Amino acid sequence: MHALQYFSLLAAASAVLAQEDALAGLVTALESLGLNGLAGAAAAVNGTDQGLAILQALTSGGNYTIFAPSNEAFAAVPESVSSNQTLLASILSYHVLPGNYANISSDFPNVTVARTLLNQTSGLVDLEGDRNQVLVWATIDGQGTLLNQGDGTNVTVTNSTTFNTLLINEINGVLLPPPALDAVLADPTLNLTGLAGVVEQLAGENDVQNNPFASGEELKGFTLFAPNTEAFEAAQSVVATLNASQIANVLRNHLLNGTTVYSPQVAIENAPQVITSGGQTMSFTSNTTGTFVTVGAGSDANSTATARIVRSDVLVENGVVHIIDGVLAVAENDEQAADEAAESAASVAEGYSTMATETAPVGQPTNGAANGGGDGNGEDAGGAAATFLPSVALVTVGAAFGFALVLA
Ligand SMILES: *[C@@H]1O[C@H](CO)[C@@H](O)[C@H](O)[C@H]1NC(C)=O
Ligand SMILES: *[C@@H]1O[C@H](CO)[C@@H](O)[C@H](O)[C@H]1NC(C)=O
Ligand SMILES: *[C@@H]1O[C@H](CO)[C@@H](O)[C@H](O)[C@H]1NC(C)=O
Ligand SMILES: *[C@@H]1O[C@H](CO)[C@@H](O)[C@H](O)[C@H]1NC(C)=O
Ligand SMILES: *[C@@H]1O[C@H](CO)[C@@H](O)[C@H](O)[C@H]1NC(C)=O
Ligand SMILES: *[C@@H]1O[C@H](CO)[C@@H](O)[C@H](O)[C@H]1NC(C)=O
Ligand SMILES: *[C@@H]1O[C@H](CO)[C@@H](O)[C@H](O)[C@H]1NC(C)=O
Ligand SMILES: *[C@@H]1O[C@H](CO)[C@@H](O)[C@H](O)[C@H]1NC(C)=O
Ligand SMILES: *[C@@H]1O[C@H](CO)[C@@H](O)[C@H](O)[C@H]1NC(C)=O
Ligand SMILES: *[C@@H]1O[C@H](CO)[C@@H](O)[C@H](O)[C@H]1NC(C)=O
Ligand SMILES: *[C@@H]1O[C@H](CO)[C@@H](O)[C@H](O)[C@H]1NC(C)=O
Ligand SMILES: *[C@@H]1O[C@H](CO)[C@@H](O)[C@H](O)[C@H]1NC(C)=O
Repeated sequence: MHALQYFSLLAAASAVLAQEDALAGLVTALESLGLNGLAGAAAAVNGTDQGLAILQALTSGGNYTIFAPSNEAFAAVPESVSSNQTLLASILSYHVLPGNYANISSDFPNVTVARTLLNQTSGLVDLEGDRNQVLVWATIDGQGTLLNQGDGTNVTVTNSTTFNTLLINEINGVLLPPPALDAVLADPTLNLTGLAGVVEQLAGENDVQNNPFASGEELKGFTLFAPNTEAFEAAQSVVATLNASQIANVLRNHLLNGTTVYSPQVAIENAPQVITSGGQTMSFTSNTTGTFVTVGAGSDANSTATARIVRSDVLVENGVVHIIDGVLAVAENDEQAADEAAESAASVAEGYSTMATETAPVGQPTNGAANGGGDGNGEDAGGAAATFLPSVALVTVGAAFGFALVLA
């Protein structure tokens, strides 16, 4: 028995049920299909506002893409989660995306980043402009693969079907909302122990000038270019010459404050330039070797540095981490430029909060040219991209990418 069939049944059944009864109908349908895992999850969220909101969305007639975990996947959900209605509803909301993402991996071959229904209210997301959390997937060996999931064994799409306006992708795992930065730094598969050590070293500092991750200095939306441990080892002789304040500045120059930038926004030609939390310029280039990030515009090694992104889009609850193969050892700090960048990011974020629901991939060009036209995503995607335009004068060419630009 398949989640797909269940969801088809749900959609059919709920058309004749009042919205309030739809969840009960769903549970009955699930049980009759033997999908006890999903049935249990649905029953558990019955009566919560969140559970009903998800169901109402799915039966509203709008386009949705659902990642539907198999029975076996649900069976593996720990009791602490399955018995917590609020948490379970939040987790279910992380499996549902407004929009039709059929064939998106062939239209955007490498990585697709798209917003889910998991929102700020859940307490599990804290992005700029109260944006919803994203999911990231790619086609690996011809198979749709959800990234950042499954403890190293990626969650994959095992079956796919559509029913009315729902695209249902059955998957072999339950998707967990992204964790806090600490958990990412501690993840042994990501090789970030060197960086974790530096963050730990600064942890005693409560002033944001001496520690960009100072507690109480909430980063609401951030992008961190995180050197891996090999990079720290290679840079040891340079890092050893830096005092604590310089180390804080170096860290700051790996960080975008108030702006979450995913790989489809930078792994492109003419990616926009941004300003780091240290007030230095940051730019991106891509060639056959990969995508590179450069900090600073000077001519010597102390004022400019470049590294390659070796793993992109590691999600955290309030931002994203891209792992790089070098330390960007630029210790210069321009507080005024950093403040201006943070202010600009904040006003861009204000624009987000009034935007319509996003139904197209993050980083989608506005003209829809990359969308391949008649694949069924064209209109949807173009419309959503147009709503990305933040009404901020400072932002021009890069507006389609939804983040603040630096004017040269
Ligand atoms: C859902 O909750 C209502 C009360 O809020 C209850 O009457 C109903 O039996 C529940 N349904 C299921 C399937 O748990
Ligand atoms: C967040 O999502 C839940 C459903 O998952 C919904 O009940 C709630 O109203 C949403 N909050 C906002 C601010 O949209
Ligand atoms: C349920 O999960 C939420 C997080 O979504 C957490 O804040 C809460 O403490 C949990 N409740 C219980 C009883 O564990
Ligand atoms: C996408 O992946 C293909 C094959 O893996 C690679 O050749 C191409 O350069 C990648 N494109 C981007 C923009 O990363
Ligand atoms: C999981 O996905 C990553 C891409 O982020 C890939 O490098 C890795 O090989 C995949 N792992 C497995 C077990 O397929
Ligand atoms: C895929 O789902 C369909 C129902 O939509 C089912 O008939 C088919 O057996 C499934 N295929 C696999 C490989 O699970
Ligand atoms: C972690 O290090 C191992 C061994 O050096 C390497 O094979 C792997 O690709 C690295 N992973 C990342 C995400 O840098
Ligand atoms: C980020 O910007 C906010 C203002 O929006 C500021 O209060 C905070 O100190 C900045 N943090 C860092 C690390 O730059
Ligand atoms: C790609 O760009 C990087 C950084 O600018 C450079 O070091 C590298 O040589 C380039 N590779 C190719 C093949 O052009
Ligand atoms: C670069 O920084 C190091 C240590 O901070 C210093 O010894 C060196 O003189 C600097 N080089 C230049 C060109 O400023
Ligand atoms: C997806 O691609 C397949 C084959 O290329 C096509 O038959 C199908 O209509 C496409 N679906 C959508 C929604 O574009
Ligand atoms: C749903 O997607 C289809 C194409 O995939 C599109 O024609 C239709 O307008 C979309 N409906 C809504 C309500 O966006």
